[in-house]
Amino acid sequence: MTVLPLARRRPASVRVPLADGGTALLRPLQDGETGPLLDVFAGMSPASRANRYLVGAPRLTGAFVRALAATDGLMHVAWLASVDDRPAGIARYVRTDEDPCTAELALEVVDEHQRRGLGLALLDAVTTVAAVNGVRRVAATVHAQNMPSLRLLSRLGIKTSFQGGVLEGNAPLRLLDPPRVDRHAIVALARRSTPDSSEPVWTAPCAGTAH
Ligand SMILES: CC(C)(COP(=O)(O)OP(=O)(O)OC[C@H]1O[C@@H](n2cnc3c(N)ncnc32)[C@H](O)[C@@H]1OP(=O)(O)O)[C@@H](O)C(=O)NCCC(=O)NCCS
Repeated sequence: MTVLPLARRRPASVRVPLADGGTALLRPLQDGETGPLLDVFAGMSPASRANRYLVGAPRLTGAFVRALAATDGLMHVAWLASVDDRPAGIARYVRTDEDPCTAELALEVVDEHQRRGLGLALLDAVTTVAAVNGVRRVAATVHAQNMPSLRLLSRLGIKTSFQGGVLEGNAPLRLLDPPRVDRHAIVALARRSTPDSSEPVWTAPCAGTAH
């Protein structure tokens, strides 16, 4: 048996079959892991970048990249999708101390792999982790002409309205139906990857129940 050195071992991930016969691997983005963020940004067209970051020509400054990579598995969760061993998309949720029951969602898929179901798979992964972490509501902000995102949000039951030139929406957290990922595998990997996975899941008193 060949034992690969640690540095060359592929991180644990969840395999996701895509509708066109391809395969993606999903895993949590580790705290401080900036490389895949830069790779995904590099694979996005100017239009995709503008849709993701809601400004004309977004730049990933060092401080911004560090903030995007500062995941903790609980308040800030990001999952990476890879195709053929290359970063292909990232979805995240962020919640704040002021409103820890609501998770703000954001995601991006490199242009080469858009329309293959990666967006839905990533969204399913982060909302599944959000649900087990006690999140009760989800929120998102998108450009009005961003049809793919509006499709994704509608699948989560999020209706949007104009706020200051962009569309904003929020809704009780509802998981995608049908599932796009193996949720048991996602939750198991999320637990294994959370820094102190011996801690119980977050149990703040959020109203309502996630479905
Ligand atoms: C939004 C985004 C993540 C979707 O990723 P994706 O992998 O292409 O999405 P999927 O293949 O899972 O498709 C999701 C839905 O959008 C639809 N869709 C995807 N691309 C589309 C397009 N160009 N036009 C219309 N609908 C589209 C799909 O048909 C699907 O809807 P359905 O399930 O009802 O058929 C991707 O387009 C992207 O990265 N855009 C730039 C960044 C961005 O807009 N981020 C969101 C704001 S934070």
